[in-house]
Amino acid sequence: MKTEFFRIRDVHNQKNEIEKIASFIKNGEVVAIPTETVYGLAADAFNENAVKKIFEAKGRPTDNPLIVHISKLEDIYLLAEKVPEKAIKLAEKYWPGPLTIILPKKKCVSDVVSGNLPTVAVRFPAHKAAQAIIEAAGTPLAAPSANISGFPSPTCFQYVEDDMTGRVSAIVDGGDCECGIESTVITLATEPPTLLRPGAVTPEQLREVLGEIKIDKAVLNPLEKNAVASSPGMKYQHYSPKAELSIVRGNLSQFISYVNEHKSEADFVLCFEGEEDKMPLPSVTFGTSDDSFSQAKRIFDALRELDEKGAKKVFVRKPYESGVGLGVCNRLYRAAAFRFLNDEKEKKGVILGLSGASGSGKSFVAAYFTEKGAVTVDADKIAREITAKGSPVLEKLALAFGEDILSPDGELNRRKLASRAFADEEKTALLTSITHPEIIKRCKEHCETAANEGKTVILDAPLLFSSGLNEICDYSLLVFAPEQVRIERIRERDKISDEEIKKRFSAQLTEMSLAEKADFKIKNYHPYDVYEEIRRVERKIFK
Ligand code: TXA
Ligand code: MG
Repeated sequence: MKTEFFRIRDVHNQKNEIEKIASFIKNGEVVAIPTETVYGLAADAFNENAVKKIFEAKGRPTDNPLIVHISKLEDIYLLAEKVPEKAIKLAEKYWPGPLTIILPKKKCVSDVVSGNLPTVAVRFPAHKAAQAIIEAAGTPLAAPSANISGFPSPTCFQYVEDDMTGRVSAIVDGGDCECGIESTVITLATEPPTLLRPGAVTPEQLREVLGEIKIDKAVLNPLEKNAVASSPGMKYQHYSPKAELSIVRGNLSQFISYVNEHKSEADFVLCFEGEEDKMPLPSVTFGTSDDSFSQAKRIFDALRELDEKGAKKVFVRKPYESGVGLGVCNRLYRAAAFRFLNDEKEKKGVILGLSGASGSGKSFVAAYFTEKGAVTVDADKIAREITAKGSPVLEKLALAFGEDILSPDGELNRRKLASRAFADEEKTALLTSITHPEIIKRCKEHCETAANEGKTVILDAPLLFSSGLNEICDYSLLVFAPEQVRIERIRERDKISDEEIKKRFSAQLTEMSLAEKADFKIKNYHPYDVYEEIRRVERKIFK
């Protein structure tokens, strides 16, 4: 295929060229275009054949959907079936810009574009040339990043030329991309909205508009075996250079001593600007250590540069995971196939045990840590798992408390069990003796597996101390709120009578008296700022 080249620097004075570029799109061809994030491979989103050509040019799996690019906010209505208030608020604040919003799609959006999902991803890019091309084409443009599938996204014309010449009809040179990593992707098809891919629009900025958001686990972790990716892109090995990268945890001096000790195991380091001279091996840099923006801008280029230099094995400095840094880490950890190296102390993640009375807001604190990539082990959930239909524990319970605690389909009738087991102390003890050993065993297994992988683990256990599970924790944390506050929260949340609430509290008396000895206490009620409280603990634990 013959590829034509264009250079656009001033859209107002290059109308003819823009028209020419748009004509390729109108003819159902694929054109590589610049955006402020990375270059994209664009085609008419409403022309199925044209869209299929994108997948061919990239070698992209067909179940990985494309983002549709528009040049004015109203065009979102051409694509999305429902446009909630939240979407408009986000768009008004961050469009045009590096943010992609996922919404339920209209029927007219082809399954080829959406990879057979019921949703569509929409973005209004800020790059002037991109806007002018979409406008002139007179149609939204489906466009993935302009790299061959599996390789780093191209952030300058040169790389697109290298990868795509002969594969697409035209390539537009619009200069270097400003952001350097692809757009932030948030789906409003979940409640709360879920951040699927971090980018230059940060979680904090999204929260400003949306309030609570979830950060998909796959953002900083490998997709678990058999898990379904919320965003199909996450399941593919992405962003990988040819070189084998390993991320070395620790500060600069720890990094340098690690490299010194293991010098024979690598041939390059990927470090921050200004650190090159201190490195025992040849280096490539990606931004400065304290500026996530500069890291984002450089990360993909740096990966390509390593390949160009023939690097085989690379030790990599670890960036901060906050703000735009979350986006940098998301790309980098994938590029490194989640290989981490570090000293013994850091190899094992911290296990933090959480206790707190009903209504204290314990889950809120757990969620804070999960959002930051911690793994939660939820003792209540495990308690439900071990009493699943047909389980040995359930059989023992039926024997002890009567067959009729099982419903006709063999499921546990929890209400009935509770009414029998909490009737007197002896019965409660019997219940505990049947269920606790198995719960404790599983909690321990889950916590230790995750911690050995270097993850921070939150063990959310209402009976952390009474069960002795606090023993396997590095730290314990009590979430505290006064009784009156807790009663109101439970009333609101569970819609149960005050009598039942009081019963719950009295069942937790022993635990609460033991929990007094927790390493840390967090006050989760007015006028305390719970975030400030959590951060205080976080600073102490993670120094
Ligand atoms: O900055 C960007 O977003 C660039 C420029 C060209 O705009 N585009 C880009 O596209 O990065 P692409 O195709 O390389 O990445 C799109 C990501 C993929 O991970 C895909 O799985 C996800 O967005 N995605 C697209 N539509 C989706 C949907 N309906 N539901 C969930 N994920 C979706
Ligand atoms: Mg891509």
